Amino acid sequence: MSKKTTIGIIGCGNISDAYFKGAARSALVQVKGCADLNAEAAQAKAALYGATAMNLPVLLADPDISLVVNLTVPLAHAAVSRQVIDAGKHVYSEKPLAANFADAAALMARARAKGLRVGSAPDTFMGASHQACRRAIDAGAIGKPVGGAAVIMSHGAESWHPNPEFFYKVGGGPVLDMGPYYVTQLVNLLGPVRRAVGLATIGNPTRTVTSEPLKGAKIHVEVPTTVNGVLEFAGGANVAMSASWDVWKHNRTTPIEIYGTEGTLLGVDPNFFGNTPRVCGPDGILRDVDIAAHPFGIANREMRNGTMQADYRMIGLVDMAIAIQQERAHRANGDMALHVLEALEALATSSASGRFINLTTTCERPEPVPLGADESVFV
Ligand SMILES: NC(=O)c1ccc[n+]([C@@H]2O[C@H](COP(=O)([O-])OP(=O)(O)OC[C@H]3O[C@@H](n4cnc5c(N)ncnc54)[C@H](O)[C@@H]3O)[C@@H](O)[C@H]2O)c1
Repeated sequence: MSKKTTIGIIGCGNISDAYFKGAARSALVQVKGCADLNAEAAQAKAALYGATAMNLPVLLADPDISLVVNLTVPLAHAAVSRQVIDAGKHVYSEKPLAANFADAAALMARARAKGLRVGSAPDTFMGASHQACRRAIDAGAIGKPVGGAAVIMSHGAESWHPNPEFFYKVGGGPVLDMGPYYVTQLVNLLGPVRRAVGLATIGNPTRTVTSEPLKGAKIHVEVPTTVNGVLEFAGGANVAMSASWDVWKHNRTTPIEIYGTEGTLLGVDPNFFGNTPRVCGPDGILRDVDIAAHPFGIANREMRNGTMQADYRMIGLVDMAIAIQQERAHRANGDMALHVLEALEALATSSASGRFINLTTTCERPEPVPLGADESVFV
């Protein structure tokens, strides 16, 4: 029988609500304390969700807390996660695992040496639609995967995020901010990446914030905002990836497509957990992929445009908490996040060097999520 795992949260900004709410609906984890560089932010979330606001040393010293969630900005991920590991606790980080591959690799080595676990977002690949895609590919629905396309295109985050600067600093940009959703799902579908090639550029060196409360503020862009590249997977398939925040309008509406020897899979937005993928065989007739038997696919979140999406962010953390008790591997794990980060970083380093980049890491495809209705599938 699983025990409830007591967790702490570091970083009480925009995305922390998803984690506090996710913990509130979970029978398997509970939040005891939260901390932030900005004490008022921690106090506000603590009051809203019934947790205790703590300063960082107090949270890290709390003997009840065995697992800490790192929801700080990308540039702080490595240092904060390292502090958690040094305090003898497991850590689950928002993506990317670190702002660069070298820091992430050092973090993983440190955790391994201490016998502690590292987990990382994204966990969206555990959603019903993405698991149904995995099941279809594994069942041979499109034959052997040969090629594919992944498309990330918008005009960035300064129109909606209350404090969007970090999106344009090291550790951000469309590749490291959104790329983890796409490449993690590609690894879930196809296995690890062998090498990468890319071209990268900055569309506009200055961005103007149009969201409140920082409307009118200027952001100096430090990272590429338009990147086109190709990832070659160890299984042989190559996938074209376009990641841009310089696009006002486009018509490439399928976020992930996989082309196989016997058919095509049209995937859905890997930033969310639900929606209906489609698949066809050699007859070219697309059919819906049934996602109903998989957990984490029912729409539960109203978006800014009024539509509903399935969003079960932090289910990877729940799986990790149970996996620690069951002494099995967790799915949204640091080894996969490290590999994904290396692949993403390779798109930019390839552009700078004019060469293919062979990856130095690899990872296992995570175990499929069992069929069922909710988090009880992990128990
Ligand atoms: N906002 C989203 O929709 C979203 C969605 C998915 C993932 N994410 C990821 O979640 C992370 C956080 O994003 P956000 O939108 O919540 O950012 P945010 O800027 O709204 O919040 C980050 C919080 O971390 C705190 N912080 C920064 N450095 C810290 C440190 N060293 N110690 C303690 N606290 C620190 C800040 O004070 C702030 O309150 C990012 O990695 C982002 O990529 C965000």
